[in-house]
Amino acid sequence: MERLEVKNLNHSFGFTKILQNINFTLQKGEVLSIVGPSGGGKTTLLHLCADLMDVQEGSVTNSFVSSSFAFQEARLLPWKNVIDNISMGLLAAGYRRRDAIEESKKIALRFGLEERDFEKFPKDLSGGMKQRVSFARALVLKPSLLFLDEPFSALDIGLKKELQTILIDMISKKEISILFITHDLMEAIRLSDEILLLKADPGHIVKKFSYTLPQHERDDAFVYEQSAKILQDEEIIDTFELRMK
Ligand SMILES: Nc1ncnc2c1ncn2[C@@H]1O[C@H](COP(=O)(O)OP(=O)(O)O)[C@@H](O)[C@H]1O
Ligand SMILES: [Mg+2]
Repeated sequence: MERLEVKNLNHSFGFTKILQNINFTLQKGEVLSIVGPSGGGKTTLLHLCADLMDVQEGSVTNSFVSSSFAFQEARLLPWKNVIDNISMGLLAAGYRRRDAIEESKKIALRFGLEERDFEKFPKDLSGGMKQRVSFARALVLKPSLLFLDEPFSALDIGLKKELQTILIDMISKKEISILFITHDLMEAIRLSDEILLLKADPGHIVKKFSYTLPQHERDDAFVYEQSAKILQDEEIIDTFELRMK
């Protein structure tokens, strides 16, 4: 069974401890979110899980057959057009150019890009379009595991919902597992089977919330209701420093 297992993970930058005793398992088909305030060590944790950074202490065991990463900023190659940005991974995986381009066009359309955008370069794209390209690039290889680092935070509410809906469709079809990092409780509630609350200084997990209602059945009312509920939780109030002074 494919899974990602994090055990007794600690991490420091210099003498500053950033993560302390992190433990969790992400099972196949699951969406696990790690939620916490900025500067709490979320990106560091995700980079350790995605093998973008070396583990100092503890272990990360990833048995998913493939994975990809979507960042907070789109990180597109400025000298490649939309379709060439999306098809890079396919070409690297040995696809013939013609097939790679065809696949890339299909997924670009699914992510709401239009044919007239295909030849454009990143400098001529809006922030929202760049993020569509970034998602398409991350998903074109149909990764078994997707790492998401606050990919919606710079987006307007309409686009955020649109991209989330595409992900929810993939989640419902059991096409993907996701490790999702965010400081936004509402988007975590919309997407997750499980939310781990990461408190800062140093980052450690203080609480776990589970949601069993299938993602495609969660409407705005569900998200608002659950958010209101969670916002009364003492650990949430402490972690996000929400207490009235
Ligand atoms: N490469 C690095 N070198 C030194 N300190 C870092 C480095 N990366 C992050 N940090 C520090 O580690 C802490 C956690 O950062 P980060 O993991 O980016 O948190 P988050 O994603 O939750 O905002 C911050 O105080 C940040 O300044
Ligand atoms: Mg971060």
